[in-house]
Amino acid sequence: MIKLLNVSKQYTLEDEVFFALKKVSLEIGEGEFIGIVGPSGCGKSTLMHLIGLLDRPTEGQVKILGRDVFTLQDEERSKMRNQVIGFVFQQFNLLNKLTVLENVLLPTIYTRSKTDVNHQDKARALLQRFGIEKQINSYPNKISGGQQQRVAIARALINNPKIILADEPTGNLDSQSGKVILDLLGTLNKNDKITVIIVTHDKEVAGKTKRQIRLKDGEIV
Ligand SMILES: Nc1ncnc2c1ncn2[C@@H]1O[C@H](COP(=O)(O)OP(=O)(O)OP(=O)(O)O)[C@@H](O)[C@H]1O
Ligand SMILES: [Mg+2]
Repeated sequence: MIKLLNVSKQYTLEDEVFFALKKVSLEIGEGEFIGIVGPSGCGKSTLMHLIGLLDRPTEGQVKILGRDVFTLQDEERSKMRNQVIGFVFQQFNLLNKLTVLENVLLPTIYTRSKTDVNHQDKARALLQRFGIEKQINSYPNKISGGQQQRVAIARALINNPKIILADEPTGNLDSQSGKVILDLLGTLNKNDKITVIIVTHDKEVAGKTKRQIRLKDGEIV
């Protein structure tokens, strides 16, 4: 489902070349539940950005669903990002000017009208499933962090992604809310057969995943 071959990401800062990722090769199968772990600065978010098509590698090949994604036209790649991948971030990244429902519908505006009834129904069903139907017309800054993260997960799911990428999804939450989010991601993997990749510092969180990829100084160890 996801295949990286000799992927490197280098940054040049004041003439010094620095490798955030060094010749990383890995394969992630459909339905896997993966933890990406390692110390701060080892390249975890960089790896997520490449898999999520948010950034391009300096060298190497990234294949998603059999397609060599960085040879695609920008438009085709954006479409793939929007339709195949759902993102969950540490800081939730919800828009405070939009309601909970509008935030969940946001990824659908690129594909269809925001008022599309099917998307609305789907968004409501997701919010209900995650126990936040009462907050549907609230604004993100008026609900708890745990609730905000559940809204973010609903937003990640609205286009039926095959892959969820979560970068420190429990990092800003208390342990109880973190557990709810982790269980939810586990359920999406188990019941909904979504491939879930979680970046985490937390050993307990990593322990819930089925396979861990450990990075150190931009390399898999
Ligand atoms: N845009 C950039 N320009 C220059 N260097 C960068 C850039 N983005 C990341 N880096 C560097 O690349 C390395 C890997 O960064 P990355 O954000 O992937 O680490 P991380 O493992 O996610 O760390 P953390 O656990 O703190 O989030 C770091 O040394 C970082 O400073
Ligand atoms: Mg990071």
